[in-house]
Amino acid sequence: MRHQREFIGLSKWELDTPCLVMDEEILEKNIRAMQAHAASFGKQLRPHAKTHKCSHIARMQMEAGCTGICVAKVSEAEVLVKNGIKGVLVTSPVVTDHKIERLMDCLSHDPGLMVVVDNPANARKLNEAAEKRGLKLNVLVDLDPGMGRTGVPYKEGLSLGRLIDSLPSLRLQGVQCYAGHVQHIPSFEERWRKSLEWMEPAAEIVRQFRRSGLPCDIFTGAGTGTYEIDCRVAELTDLQVGSYVMMDAEYLNIGSSQNPSRFEKFPPALSLLTTVISTNHDDFITVDAGLKALYHHGGTPSVIRPSEPGLQYEWRGDEHGRIVLQRPSPKLEIGEVLELVVSHCDPTVNLFDVLYFTRDEMVKGVWPIDMRGKCQ
Ligand SMILES: Cc1ncc(COP(=O)(O)O)c(C=O)c1O
Repeated sequence: MRHQREFIGLSKWELDTPCLVMDEEILEKNIRAMQAHAASFGKQLRPHAKTHKCSHIARMQMEAGCTGICVAKVSEAEVLVKNGIKGVLVTSPVVTDHKIERLMDCLSHDPGLMVVVDNPANARKLNEAAEKRGLKLNVLVDLDPGMGRTGVPYKEGLSLGRLIDSLPSLRLQGVQCYAGHVQHIPSFEERWRKSLEWMEPAAEIVRQFRRSGLPCDIFTGAGTGTYEIDCRVAELTDLQVGSYVMMDAEYLNIGSSQNPSRFEKFPPALSLLTTVISTNHDDFITVDAGLKALYHHGGTPSVIRPSEPGLQYEWRGDEHGRIVLQRPSPKLEIGEVLELVVSHCDPTVNLFDVLYFTRDEMVKGVWPIDMRGKCQ
C-alpha cells in the first residue's frame, strides 16, 4: 500500500478514493479575498476552524493577517494551542469541571485564549478555576440572536457583563453574537434584513457596555452567508467566517449580492474524489462514496468532473453512492474517478484523516485534519 505522502508529485486522478482534495490556489484566493473584504470595512477576521479542522489552514489564515482563530470545542483548542496558534476563541460555553481543567491547561500556554459565557454560575466557576491556577481568563458574553442555541437574551447581556467584570480572575473582553440561523437564507435581501434585525440590536448592547464603563473591545460574529451584510454594523470588530475557505453545495446554492440564486464569490476549494465501482444498470452507476465519506446534510453534492450536465449524485447507504444518469449522459466506465462538490463541508471534513493539497491537478502536499473527531 502506498503511504499518503507517496502520492505527492502524482496527478490527483491517481489518488486512492474516496478522498478529499484541496485546490491550494483557490484556498489561498479565498483566504486573501475575505481578508481584503474585512480590511476594506476596517474589520478583523477571526475565522472558525470548525470548518477545516486543520491546523495548517489555521496557520495560513493567521499568516494572512487574522486576529485569532475560533473553535467550537476545547479539544480543538488543544490542537491549535499545541501547534503554537495564539488567540484562540472557544465559541461555545465550557461548563464541566473536566473541560474547565482542559481549558485552563490551554490558557497556561496561550494567555490570549478566550471563551464565551452565557450563565452567571458558569462565570463564577470559570473564575474559581482560573484563580486556583493563578491565571486570568478572557471572556466574551455570548448573546443569543434568536437562534435558541447558546447565549443570553439581549436584555440580560449587560448584567452578565457586569458580573464577569466584577470577578477578579476573569477579564471581560466584549461580546459574541453569531446568527447561525440566518446564514443560509436563500434570498440575499431577506438574509440582509434578518441579519441586521439581530445584529443592530446586538450593537446596542455593545454601546450599553461602553456607556456603563465595561470593557468591550471585541464584538465578534457573522458567518460566510452574512459576511457582506454584518460589516455594515459599525460596532462589529471581527468576522467569525468559516465555510468561505472551502465552500460547499449548501452555500453555493444560495443567493448573493451578485446573483439571486448562486453564491460564487468564494469558489469551492474543497472537493471529493470518488471512483465508479459498478456499471450494470442503464440509468445509474455506483460509486465508492456513501454516508461515511459524504455527510448527508445541506445541499445536494454536485458532480463537477466530468463537467457535462445530467449527472446527479444520490446517497445509497453507508459505503456507496449512485450517479443517476439523465440522457444524454457521458458513458462512465468502472475505475473512472469523479469529482464532487460536497454537501456540507464541516461535517464531511470530519470524516477524513487528511487533505490532499493540489495545484494544477498535481498533488503538492498532504495535511492532517488534526482536529478531526475533536468533538469534546
Ligand atoms: C459560532 C460560530 N461562528 C462562526 C461559524 C462559521 O459560520 P460559516 O461556516 O457559516 O461561515 C459557525 C458555524 O457554524 C459558528 O457556529
